[in-house]
Order: sequence, then C-alpha cells, then structure tokens
Amino acid sequence: MIVVKKIAEMTAAVKEMKAKGLTIGFVPTMGFLHEGHLSLVKECRRSAAVVVASIFVNPLQFGPKEDFRQYPRDLEKDARLLEREKVDYLFAPDDLEMYPEGYKTTVEVRDLEDRLCGRSRPGHFKGVATVVLKLFNIIQPDMAFFGQKDAQQALILQKMVQDLDLDVKIRIMPIIREQDGLAMSSRNIYLSEKERRAAPILAESLKEARLMFEAGERRPAEIIGRMRDLIMREPLATLDYVEIVDLDELNPVAAIGGDVLVAVAVYIGRTRLIDNIILKAKGN
Ligand code: PAJ
Repeated sequence: MIVVKKIAEMTAAVKEMKAKGLTIGFVPTMGFLHEGHLSLVKECRRSAAVVVASIFVNPLQFGPKEDFRQYPRDLEKDARLLEREKVDYLFAPDDLEMYPEGYKTTVEVRDLEDRLCGRSRPGHFKGVATVVLKLFNIIQPDMAFFGQKDAQQALILQKMVQDLDLDVKIRIMPIIREQDGLAMSSRNIYLSEKERRAAPILAESLKEARLMFEAGERRPAEIIGRMRDLIMREPLATLDYVEIVDLDELNPVAAIGGDVLVAVAVYIGRTRLIDNIILKAKGN
C-alpha cells in the first residue's frame, strides 16, 4: 500500500492508472477504522482493479461546538488495517493540503441538507458534499462506497452526483453492527461503560418500529410515539429526533405507503449517535 499525503502525487498516480485503463474504486473515511469501514473496503476490493481509501478528518463538516479536535485518530493502526485488506493507495492529506489559506468554495445540496441531522448540525452536509467532491476530483473513481449508517449523507451524495453529472457510481453498503445491535461508529469510543450499555436503545427502538410495521401498522405517529417512549425510558438517553421520511426528499410521510426511512438520533450522555432502517412496502 502506498500512503500519499499530497494532492499532486495522488493525481499523478491516478493519471497513470487511468492510462492503463484500470477501474478505480474509492472509500472515503475519517479514519479510526472499524468493521463498518472495512466492509466498504472489502466490497471495493471485490469490485475494482485499484482500491483507494482516504482518511481525512474534515474540519468543514464539524460545527464550532462539535468534536473536531477530540475526534479519534490513529493513522498507523488504520494503515495496518487497510494494508491487510489489500488497499492499493491510502490518501491521507493534512488540513492545509485540502483547504489552503484563502479557500472559499463549498457545495450545497439544497433542502436535503437541512432535514434530519442537518437541523441539529447546520453546515454539516455542506462540509461533507464539499470534501467528497474534492476527493472525487482528486481520485476520479469509477465507483465510490458509502455506508447506509449515514443514510442522509448517502442520499445527499447521490443527489450531488446526479445534479453535477459526476461520472462515478455510488454504492451504498448495509450497516455493520455490534453483537448487541449498536451500529458501529468511530464515536462509540466516547461512550463510558454505562453509556455503552445504554447505546443499543437506538437499534432496539428501530427493531420495535419494524415489528409494528410487520404487524400492519402504517401510521408514522404511532410508530414514532412508541420509539420515543422506549428511548425516553433510558435515563442516559436524550432524544434528538425520530422521523419517518420518504427516500427522495426526506420529508415526513403522512402514511407509510412506499419505502420509507426510519431515522433516529440520540445523545447517550454527551455522545450523539445515529441509526436507521428502511421499511419496504410489499410488492417492491
Ligand atoms: P466516516 O464516519 O469515517 O465513515 C466513512 C464511511 O463508512 C461512510 O460512508 C459511513 O457511512 C461508513 N460507515 C460508518 N459506520 C458504518 C457502519 N457501522 N456500517 C457500514 N458503514 C459504515 O462518513 C464519513 O466518515 C465522512 O462524512 C466522509 C464521507 C468521509 C466525508 O468526510
């Protein structure tokens, strides 16, 4: 695996691979890798001739009061894990390489970026879209892999690719979970032992939603109400949102007709966790 820190070096390598006609698969991450990230890397390895992973804790997607500084970092360990998965290039630029002094351009995916997580994290998805477009331009992947864990991020990036006519195929991979259901996340490291025991409440509330749906419930308010009750019964949990939305505009649905996204965000102590499921209407 070749570790690349400079954009010019990465674009030069990309040019060579393109000249050879090799397909490039790309997995962008912020590092502190877990099995969720590695599931994307594995699928990328199966699908593309050349695998490029990136590690960049993107300052632009963190709010002023968020955890940019504390965000966990372990480049050496990450590099070992990626090497083991037979990644060809690890692109790991520093902040100034990506955003030199005087940097001004951002990408907005209107409306979609204001819903769900966008409401409690203003500017977050602008930062995500901007860095991903920059990374796409540097790496020029034929395909790029993202996790369903960040459902809104995945939808926004798909929309960006469509709207800006980017020539990259976006692949969305399933959520990888711990044994007790907790969705894997680099931020799980913030949880104390007690908080860690409370954290599966997100997945449990989603499981309850699925059970209600399978029993024929189609009224979002009923499902959301039950999920809220469950979450609020957990003393360490503070609800940010529970919503049931359509998969195009992320608007709340009045009744569950087609496929919907059930999305939840909860603070466990001071750590904000997210999770989701898609409920598929029969016949799809
Ligand atoms: P990060 O949180 O490091 O996640 C990198 C990729 O791994 C994302 O596509 C995310 O959805 C996926 N992922 C995280 N946890 C997962 C899990 N439990 N199961 C499956 N996939 C999982 O998301 C970001 O970084 C950044 O916003 C980024 C896209 C890199 C832009 O900065």
